[in-house]
Amino acid sequence: MDKQVLGVLASGRGSNLAAIMDSIDAGELPAVIGVVISDNPGAYALERAQAAGIATCVIERKYFSCKEEFEAAINAKLKEHGVGLVVLAGYMRLLGKTFVSAWPLRVMNIHPALLPSFPGLDAQGQAIRYGAKVSGCTVHFVDEGMDTGPIILQKAVDVSDDDTEESLAGKILKEEHLIYKQAIKLWLEGRLAVEGRRVRIKK
Ligand code: GRF
Repeated sequence: MDKQVLGVLASGRGSNLAAIMDSIDAGELPAVIGVVISDNPGAYALERAQAAGIATCVIERKYFSCKEEFEAAINAKLKEHGVGLVVLAGYMRLLGKTFVSAWPLRVMNIHPALLPSFPGLDAQGQAIRYGAKVSGCTVHFVDEGMDTGPIILQKAVDVSDDDTEESLAGKILKEEHLIYKQAIKLWLEGRLAVEGRRVRIKK
């Protein structure tokens, strides 16, 4: 059977991308990464991909007159590489309706908090400032909202009294790297059944 092709969108350092690449190399994920696309030419994620011989592409928002055109360019690039699942790995923009509806249940995101708590930017800082005793990470399908799509997997971590935003982010990131590949694997195996907001994992 042909391997599924992942398209990764990343704006920054790309540690989740690296974890996914490692997991493919280890034979844990029956997939290939067709292309890594970034809206940020300085994203370290691009270097990681290039070092591994993965195709990369920079598509910057500033060269498009509207969001729809910008996302149409991303969409075209994903199609060009035969992508079946779009993986957001630190992609810092909200995807619009046209893009999301073109990829129903085919776009995943990872968020560094237990949604629906602490959506949006600086989730780890939000958890610390709120005084949460538990936080964690969430992999979810992407809809038009900000971190609002159906939840696939979550992993909790304790917030200790001496945790800072940085230490909490580090603890959460370790778990992100584990649950993202698990969620992708479940999708590749066709084991995610979505009923309304609930995602059931088929045995
Ligand atoms: C991660 O914390 C992820 O949850 C959030 O953005 C960060 C990306 O980190 N969406 P990296 O670029 O994968 O290292």
